[in-house]
Amino acid sequence: MSTLPQAPAIRTALPGPNARAIIERDGHVVSPSYTRGYPFVIARGEGAMVEDVDGNVFLDCAAGIAVNSTGHAHPDVVAAIVEQSQRYLHMSGTDFYYEPQVRLAEVLSAAAPMPGPCKSFFGNSGAEANEAAIKLARYHTGRPFLIAFLGSFHGRTMGALSLTASKAVQRKGFGATTAPGVFHAPYADCYRCPVGLRPETCQAECLEYLEDKVLVHLVSPDEVAGLVVEPIQGEGGYIVPPAQFHQRLRALTERHGILLIVDDVQSGMGRTGKLFAIEHFGVQPDIVTMAKGIASGLPLGVATARAGVMDWTPGAHASTFGGNPVSCAAALTTIRLLQEQLVANAADVGAYMLDGLRDLQQKHALIGDVRGKGLMIGIELVKDRASKARATAERDRVVDEAFARGLLILGAGRNTIRLSPPLVLTRAQARTAIDILDAAIGAVSASR
Ligand SMILES: Cc1ncc(COP(=O)(O)O)c(C=O)c1O
Repeated sequence: MSTLPQAPAIRTALPGPNARAIIERDGHVVSPSYTRGYPFVIARGEGAMVEDVDGNVFLDCAAGIAVNSTGHAHPDVVAAIVEQSQRYLHMSGTDFYYEPQVRLAEVLSAAAPMPGPCKSFFGNSGAEANEAAIKLARYHTGRPFLIAFLGSFHGRTMGALSLTASKAVQRKGFGATTAPGVFHAPYADCYRCPVGLRPETCQAECLEYLEDKVLVHLVSPDEVAGLVVEPIQGEGGYIVPPAQFHQRLRALTERHGILLIVDDVQSGMGRTGKLFAIEHFGVQPDIVTMAKGIASGLPLGVATARAGVMDWTPGAHASTFGGNPVSCAAALTTIRLLQEQLVANAADVGAYMLDGLRDLQQKHALIGDVRGKGLMIGIELVKDRASKARATAERDRVVDEAFARGLLILGAGRNTIRLSPPLVLTRAQARTAIDILDAAIGAVSASR
C-alpha cells in the first residue's frame, strides 16, 4: 500500500533546513568530483515517488541515473534482498560457488540478445562490465586495438575511460587515456547528422569515416579486437541512431573478425520497451554489457558473451565482490518483474510520454528535438530551430525549474534533458511530468 502521495508536494523552500545541513556537511568531506546540479537529499522512496529529508515529495524521472528500474524499494526486490541477506551476504564467486550467481547466469544466457549458450562475468558496475569486455575481446582475438564512438560513455576506470568520449572534463588531468589503443568514430546523431544528410535517405554514411579513414589510415582491421557501441547513446544526449547504423556495424565487424561489444548499461533492462535496447535494431552482438537497472539499485555489472568467446582461463580475470549474492538475488527478482510486466509498461507509458512531449515541441520553440524509445527519452533544447545552436544554459535552468516544481530530471549531452524514470511510471505520473516540463520550459522561455 502506498504511503507517499502520487504527485509532487513541495512544503518548504528548497533546499529545506535538513537538506541544507546535510549538503553543508557533504561539502567538507565528500569528493568534489561529483556533479550535483540541484540540492535533493533523499529520505525515502516508493515506486516513482521520493521524499526528501524535509518532507517534500518529488516525482522521480531520473531514477538514480536510470537505475531504479522496478521503482524505489519494490517490495518483491526488498524481500529477495532480505531473504538472501539472512542466509549469507558474501562468499566470493571468484573462489567459491553459490546458486544465485549460477541462476542469474542461466537467466541471462536465455534472455541475452544473441544465440546461446552464453557465459557471464560478474563485476560491480558498468565500468567494470566494460573493463571485462575489453579484456575478453583482447584475450579472445589476440588483437590489441579497439574502436568506440564520439559522444559515448562507457565508464571512468582507466580502461573504460579510454573508450569514453563524452565530455573532455572526464579525461582532463588523467594523462594519456587513449594509450590502450582506442580509435573513435562519429556516432549517428540524425538531428545533427555528422555528414549533413537526411534521415529519410540515410544509409549510415557517417560510418564511412570509420570504414574509409580510421580503418585505412590509422589501424588495420585485422588488429582490431572489438568495437564498442551503445545501442542508444546515453550520457551523450539520448541519441537514437537509425537501424542501418547498427546493421552496418555488425556487417563490418563480421567482415573483419572484430567482436561487436554492445554497451547496454544505460539503455538495457527494459528501459526502451525491450529487455535489451539492441533488440530494436535487429543486431546480435558477441558481448553485451549491463549494469544500472539490472538489480534495481544494488551494485552489479555483467559482461555476457557467446560461450565460445568467453574462453579465458582461470586467473585471467576476477573480482572479489563481483556478482555478490545479494545483488544477484535482487537482479533475479528485477528481471522477473521486468519480463512479467515492466518492459511492457515502459513501452506503453514511454509511447504515451513521447506523444505528449511532441505536443510540447509544437508549443515551445526552445525544444529542437524529442526522441527516444520506451522510457529512455531525450528533449534537446536549441536557441533557435534553424541554427540548432545548443541551449545549454537554458537546459540547466529547465532542470532547476522542474526541481522547484517537484520533478527530478537530469541533463545528458550538452543541451539535452533526459527522462529515465523508474519503469513502474504510470500514465498519470507521465502526464504530471509533461505538465511540469511544460511549465518549466515556459518559465525559462519567458525569461529569455
Ligand atoms: C552506457 C554506459 N556505460 C557504462 C557506464 C558506467 O557505469 P558505472 O557508472 O556503473 O561505472 C554508464 C554510466 O552512466 C553508461 O551510461
